[in-house]
Amino acid sequence: SDGIAKVKILTLGESGVGKSSLLLRYKDDKFAGNFVTTLGVEYKQKQIQIENIPLTVQVWDTAGQERFKTITPNYYRSVDGALLVFDISELETFDKIEYWIQDLQKDADLTKVIMVLVGNKSDLEEKRKVDFQTAQKKAQEYQIEYIETSAKTNSNVDQVFEMIVRKVIDK
Ligand code: GTP
Ligand code: MG
Repeated sequence: SDGIAKVKILTLGESGVGKSSLLLRYKDDKFAGNFVTTLGVEYKQKQIQIENIPLTVQVWDTAGQERFKTITPNYYRSVDGALLVFDISELETFDKIEYWIQDLQKDADLTKVIMVLVGNKSDLEEKRKVDFQTAQKKAQEYQIEYIETSAKTNSNVDQVFEMIVRKVIDK
């Protein structure tokens, strides 16, 4: 090992909510409008510094599609943080958040995993189906933070990753 501290983050949520897009924006500052669904799990890492301390942020970006459900739980073990992502313009993706938390709970100790609820596609304000207060209330039920992002316009993307990494290292 290189001795640099590592933080292991997982993305979870329904297919199409923008999990891979958030990671692509964070890692490479890019956005692609076409939808390329994730097959199984994709891995990306980024070197950052928080208060002059170098860190490797390791992100396992999981597939939202049901057909990969047997592969992804292997990655749930020993994870430090999970971004629970939904699309603010698709109510069903918000309703499925409970399901993703339960799925994570089967293979990870939720008392040890830092979760953050992420409402993505905040640029689609005119198509909004989940209001901020409703999502914030859901987050409060789990005593976690709620943040809205847009991978498209690059709103709050660095902030959501920095928030979860800080919570992990401050734990
Ligand atoms: P799976 O890999 O199938 O689980 O999907 P995913 O959650 O990784 O979704 P992905 O990042 O592939 O994005 C799905 C679609 O939503 C793509 O067409 C993206 O361009 C689009 N998208 C992602 N983020 C945003 C966003 O913030 N705003 C808008 N308007 N579109 C977005
Ligand atoms: Mg994906």
